[in-house]
Amino acid sequence: MAVLLTGGTGYIGSHTAVCMLEAGYDVVIADDLSNSAADVADRIRQITGRDLRFYQIDVSDRAAVRALFDENDIDAVIHFAGFKAVGESVREPLKYYRNNLDTTLTLLEVMAERNVGVFIFSSSATVYGDRNPAPYTEDMETGRCSNPYGWTKEMIERILESACVADGNLSAVALRYFNPIGAHESGLIGDDPNGIPNNLMPFITQTAAGIRERLSVFGDDYPTPDGTGVRDYIHVVDLAKGHVAAYRYACDHKGFEAINLGTGVGYSVLDIVKTFERVNGVRVPYVIAARRPGDLASVYSDPSKAKALLGWETEKSLEDMCRDAWNYQKNRL
Ligand code: UFG
Repeated sequence: MAVLLTGGTGYIGSHTAVCMLEAGYDVVIADDLSNSAADVADRIRQITGRDLRFYQIDVSDRAAVRALFDENDIDAVIHFAGFKAVGESVREPLKYYRNNLDTTLTLLEVMAERNVGVFIFSSSATVYGDRNPAPYTEDMETGRCSNPYGWTKEMIERILESACVADGNLSAVALRYFNPIGAHESGLIGDDPNGIPNNLMPFITQTAAGIRERLSVFGDDYPTPDGTGVRDYIHVVDLAKGHVAAYRYACDHKGFEAINLGTGVGYSVLDIVKTFERVNGVRVPYVIAARRPGDLASVYSDPSKAKALLGWETEKSLEDMCRDAWNYQKNRL
């Protein structure tokens, strides 16, 4: 028996592969390498001392997915593969809807053919939209997403819910991620975006490394303690362990569940900058810039459902996140 990780050489997928292998499960990775590097599979082997199978395929290619299922005894799918750049999704919405929905539907159809009934999905806090006050709980109404990327997450959650209603043997868990940052403590895998980073932490590490001149802090007039945006940053290794817990839960249950993966604590942009500078002894030059369109003031989770259902809680601190993010960046220099 093996678990298929689509997008398994990406940032969150690779950390989850490590945690699944360390927990004793066999792993098969499918990734088209459109946003990750082939050597990540070797790095996962190096960290864990275990082997895994790697397929360079697009999981909307039904024949390739069927062949993968023929060659491996897959008992569950953890589906990370997907486009994730918010701004790009506004400019190229059809590309996002086509890719993110097609991959999911193809996987679910092939799973149904083979009687594979466990599906874990990379959802996002973005499904809570702009009307709900933080902390977000899973019973809040979702939708009102601010961009096509967010809508693909919302639509896929609805697809999973419907599929579970129709098929009593299916178990689907949508994990609503808050803001994953940090890296594996080995420094061998981490967040490695193409081009200019959109997200805060890779921009900070590249600025500290001198690759970027300075960070732009997007707005200091939000209704938050220091005026900068507040987010629920979660160490990517804690997040990865949440997938192991979700997989175990899904193997013993049927139906659809949406579950937040966050710490429940919000930090501001300036909290992150200052903690990063203090923990790592480096400077992160910054300027205050205009608000970024579509950003919310304050986004953080209520993580109690994950604790109750999965027995999972975060363990790592903001200091750990900042130290491990910098360790990965230094390793890459
Ligand atoms: N920020 C800056 N400067 C930057 C980048 C970010 O000040 O150069 C600020 C943002 O304004 C925000 C915070 O840092 O206040 C975090 O921004 P990120 O871009 O790192 O993350 P977001 O919260 O905007 O986005 C994340 C995920 C998305 C997801 C979204 C909503 O990256 O995939 O949460 O859940 F859709």
